[in-house]
Amino acid sequence: MKRFSCFIFLLSALLLCSCGKSDKPKLTMVTEATFPPYEFRTGDKVDGIDPAIIRHIADTLGYELKIQDMSFDSVITAVQSGKADVAASGITVTEDRKKQINFTVPYVTAQQVVIVKDNSPIHTTEDLKKYTIGVQHGTTGDLFVTKNIKEPQRFANGALAVTALVSGKLDAVVIDGEPAQVYLSQQTGLRLLPRPLTSEEYAFAISKKNVKLLEDFNRVLNEMKANGLLDSIIRKYKEQNTETAADLLVEDSKYFWIGVKEAFELNFIKDKRYLYLWRGFLVTLYISFFAVLMGLVIGFVVALIRSTAIQTGRYKIPDFFCRMYLTVIRGTPVVVQLLIIYFVIFGSWDIDKVLVAVIAFGINSGAYVAEIFRAGIMSIDKGQMEAGRSLGLSYFQTMREIVIPQAFKNVLPALGNEFIVLLKETSVSGYIALQDLTKGGDIIRSQTYDAFFPLIAVALIYLAVVIFLSSLMGKLEKRLKENE
Ligand code: ARG
Repeated sequence: MKRFSCFIFLLSALLLCSCGKSDKPKLTMVTEATFPPYEFRTGDKVDGIDPAIIRHIADTLGYELKIQDMSFDSVITAVQSGKADVAASGITVTEDRKKQINFTVPYVTAQQVVIVKDNSPIHTTEDLKKYTIGVQHGTTGDLFVTKNIKEPQRFANGALAVTALVSGKLDAVVIDGEPAQVYLSQQTGLRLLPRPLTSEEYAFAISKKNVKLLEDFNRVLNEMKANGLLDSIIRKYKEQNTETAADLLVEDSKYFWIGVKEAFELNFIKDKRYLYLWRGFLVTLYISFFAVLMGLVIGFVVALIRSTAIQTGRYKIPDFFCRMYLTVIRGTPVVVQLLIIYFVIFGSWDIDKVLVAVIAFGINSGAYVAEIFRAGIMSIDKGQMEAGRSLGLSYFQTMREIVIPQAFKNVLPALGNEFIVLLKETSVSGYIALQDLTKGGDIIRSQTYDAFFPLIAVALIYLAVVIFLSSLMGKLEKRLKENE
């Protein structure tokens, strides 16, 4: 009981920590930051044309700006569900999107262009039909290709699509013009088709419920257009991006020729990229640890209720709810549960994402732990319970003193397995823009265009933790055996 209250206390402390207050009202901007020069990462920060414009607007309006990096297909949902105030992500104004959210006045015009390899047989849009095309999932490039050309291959971000093109997995990439220019300057052997596919306008997206914010944004944006600030921000980042791009180019051609050491440096040392892995690793451990605790508590309670109901016929109603819980949780994928908890249940709450993940994975794991515990309890011979009862112990005393200790020992291997599964399952945390270990590797991948090193490093780290955990469980099992 004491341990249980400790756990609850810890959880509430976590909850409180995550609602830190500052005196200025907060403005949360969401974006997908592999879209230079509009948004990109430098070290820990998200920078680019969009963040710079929004920062100016936030300052003018007296807000404290918070930027969140998530997948592009989630940024509009985030605004719509109230998780964020504004989406600024090089978002094209389209009629369909207008049905979901409001757009500010546009701040720039853009196009969708086609990137192919230098030596590609593709020369016109017509040629494209016969080839494999890559796009970033959920973008206007995706929509255009799907509707007018053919079913494309959809990637989480543009950088990954370009990597696939370079390594020969795709024949063409359809993407916005400015980022295409930056990608082109970072990779050798690529060219653009002469004719763009579309002409579009970018604007910021704000919830339909927040009309006042939309008016404020439009006012400041119009001012920025009039006094030239908007232009100067856009110009500054375009120039800066071609400069850093030139840097990378040298780095890159070297990288192909001088083997492993250089690649290692590019992926992990340069710009302290190893920090993505290290911080991600800590997040993964943190989520897994608390989710395991939560799963144990939930699982234990549910298993007790269920096995008591089965063995004694008591607790019919709680048992019914437990069964519902097991059916729903075990019947749906954990990523979907995570997304529902984040976007629907805590939709308009400003709650820390790590906490959301702990709750989601904890609830999920609880269902599996419950069945493991139940199997353990029910595997103990009926005679044990009868013996306990005939000694004058109550049902719960017998459970506590006789049945559960034996059951626990029996289920230990299965429990250990569940923890290992859970640790690896947390790798989907990136779906709610959490920077866990897997996401850390993804970020490196999108910056260095190298798949090998970041993925292998991530895999090795998971493997090391799992090996460590297994040996720990092995030791525990042995200790319990010796105590027998
Ligand atoms: N302009 C395109 C669209 O609205 C692509 C935007 C992609 N933005 C990004 N930050 N990845 O669909």
